[in-house]
Amino acid sequence: MKLNKTCAVVLAAGNGKRMQSGKPKVFCEVLFKPLIGWVLQNCKDANILDICLVCSEDGLFKFKELFGSTIEYVLQDQKLGTAHAVLQAGNFLKTSQSDDVLILLGDVPFLDSKTIEESYIKHKQEDNQATVIAATLDDPFGYGRIDEMDGKVTIVEEKDATDAQRAIRKVNSGAIWFDIKALLGVLEKVDNNNANKEYYITTAVNILKRTGCYVAQDDRIILGANTNQQLFKLNEVARNRIISQKIEQGVEFIVKDGVVISPDVTIGKGTLIFPNVTIKGHCSIGANCIITSGSFIKDSNIGNNCEIKSSYILNSELKNNVRVGPFAQIRPGSSIADYVKIGNFVEVKNSSVDTKTSIAHLTYIGDSNIGARVNFGCGCTTANYDGEKKHRTTVADDAFVGCNVSLIAPVNIGERAFIAAGSVITNDVLADDFAIARAKQITKTKYMQKKKKEKKNG
Ligand code: UD1
Ligand code: MG
Repeated sequence: MKLNKTCAVVLAAGNGKRMQSGKPKVFCEVLFKPLIGWVLQNCKDANILDICLVCSEDGLFKFKELFGSTIEYVLQDQKLGTAHAVLQAGNFLKTSQSDDVLILLGDVPFLDSKTIEESYIKHKQEDNQATVIAATLDDPFGYGRIDEMDGKVTIVEEKDATDAQRAIRKVNSGAIWFDIKALLGVLEKVDNNNANKEYYITTAVNILKRTGCYVAQDDRIILGANTNQQLFKLNEVARNRIISQKIEQGVEFIVKDGVVISPDVTIGKGTLIFPNVTIKGHCSIGANCIITSGSFIKDSNIGNNCEIKSSYILNSELKNNVRVGPFAQIRPGSSIADYVKIGNFVEVKNSSVDTKTSIAHLTYIGDSNIGARVNFGCGCTTANYDGEKKHRTTVADDAFVGCNVSLIAPVNIGERAFIAAGSVITNDVLADDFAIARAKQITKTKYMQKKKKEKKNG
């Protein structure tokens, strides 16, 4: 069943005082992705694209930075409860083309698209006005309990529950499907007659007649982050789950220790990940790569058969059969072509390096375009910064740059040019030219013997 006549209202106005983070709670990150990012992704995965976010003034700027105009925003100035929050989205609901709305909490990141879809199917099949997504917990403390004594679903919050109700282990995940017309009919009738004196969205469920409940098999879908300890737990659950998924997809791990992979990372079959590797943000890594311990990869695309040995790769692109490290850094804006070798203690920044070029040891390449089959000796530098501005260096195909060469940018080295070791190059070198720019060697014959003798004779 397609969820094409549905929309979502996501509640994210709480400030998460218990997290001590000084920012709206839903910006707290699980595997480097904000909680709210997980929630919206789950919606989109379930094909719910019409989304209204209820947020506070202080979060609005950051929300817009994250999601732009892909969703609608409404403000809730005073936090008077979850029903009051939904009420702020009243216009969104009244003008919506949808029949049903899913109310979601911004701090519950694992309520996945499968759960959303299956609960929607139940909601429609039973012709409910409200369907609560629930889970059964060993320890239900703190959650709203699902009481079905009267033959209909009623939700009672911890503080308002009787002892008998507190014993119920079936709890409200916070995510609830509503028929929009039915919801709008009762929203204004919700009162704050409860221990917290808040307007609860759960009261809307209690007022409605045709209510149902979908119980998720995996109770982890319900996990939320109210405290830092819970946030830590979410990270651990997500970390293990992602590694398990990758193993299913043919990615190899020796052990899981220290391996952290963000949710928006794809990895090809046969790639081997050593312990203590972090892959953050949006990354794609090809098949049959090897990534050894200490590597940190962020927002980068890496092709097939690459070897990343204990290195940093940031906002860059590596094609196939590239070797990096050990202990190299590829900084933002770099693009590295097939069969390039970037060796130990090499830094590349905002540069392109073409096919089969070798930059094997102790070299800095910044703001440069390096051609194909170029060889850099040990200890070379592109001097790209004059204290005020950055300048570019180009080295054309098949050039040879000897050890300890400094290329003072802006400067261009032509095809097949040869730069002698130890040169400081300030002027362009044309194709097929040889350039040497270093002091001439002076050798004094048997000078050291003479010195020794002089010393002996006083
Ligand atoms: C809520 C549910 C409870 C459920 C639990 C699951 C209600 C009344 N209770 O309780 O049944 O078991 O979630 O985690 O809904 N928010 C606003 N504006 C407000 C109040 C809250 O935007 O005025 C947002 C918060 O940012 C948060 C979410 O709504 O993301 C839930 O609020 P919270 O106060 O944490 O509800 P719980 O007590 O956890
Ligand atoms: Mg909560």
